[in-house]
Amino acid sequence: MAVSNLNIKRKPPFKIRTYSMEDINLILEIEQQAFPKTAYPKEAFLSYADRFPDHFVVIEWGEDILGYMIFDPDDHIHSMAVKPTHRRQGLGTMLFMHAARCAKKSLWLEVRSENRGAIAFYRCMGMEVTGRIQGYYGDDDALIMVFDKSKNIAAARDREA
Ligand SMILES: CC(C)(COP(=O)(O)OP(=O)(O)OC[C@H]1O[C@@H](n2cnc3c(N)ncnc32)[C@H](O)[C@@H]1OP(=O)(O)O)[C@@H](O)C(=O)NCCC(=O)NCCS
Repeated sequence: MAVSNLNIKRKPPFKIRTYSMEDINLILEIEQQAFPKTAYPKEAFLSYADRFPDHFVVIEWGEDILGYMIFDPDDHIHSMAVKPTHRRQGLGTMLFMHAARCAKKSLWLEVRSENRGAIAFYRCMGMEVTGRIQGYYGDDDALIMVFDKSKNIAAARDREA
């Protein structure tokens, strides 16, 4: 079944599950579309899968993968992306909420200071900017953003509903 342009918020079922080897090509495709100039290579994903097998998750819809998220046991979000054709339909929220539920304390991440879309998304999730690292990406600064689980989880659940 063609899945593009379906409003996911109104048309489940889809599921979050941990990464498996067969997902790699679809993930590389999503990665390339999301980060054309700075996409992680295949080896980076394989290394993440090796190090954090329970924290590398994908959203599955039928035989397709619509997005992925990698975080770690120290509540650090390493990366996430949703297929361009399926953004603004709540999938990023689902991935974020999965990580928030698994988090021991406060989710945190670095994000490019020029990545306005992602920063707006993370703010919408309840994250706050707590710092800035000059030149972290060479050509851009990183903003440090933090999600205080004890403070924000209830509001985040409401947004997900
Ligand atoms: C960031 C990203 C994962 C968000 O995924 P998504 O599935 O579109 O997110 P959601 O649909 O759950 O968005 C929830 C809310 O966040 C906000 N939001 C999401 N994307 C936004 C954008 N580009 N601009 C402004 N606000 C945005 C909106 O308030 C949105 O709710 P609404 O659609 O009802 O207005 C997605 O845009 C993406 O893959 N971007 C490219 C990769 C990337 O930058 N990853 C982060 C690297 S640190």
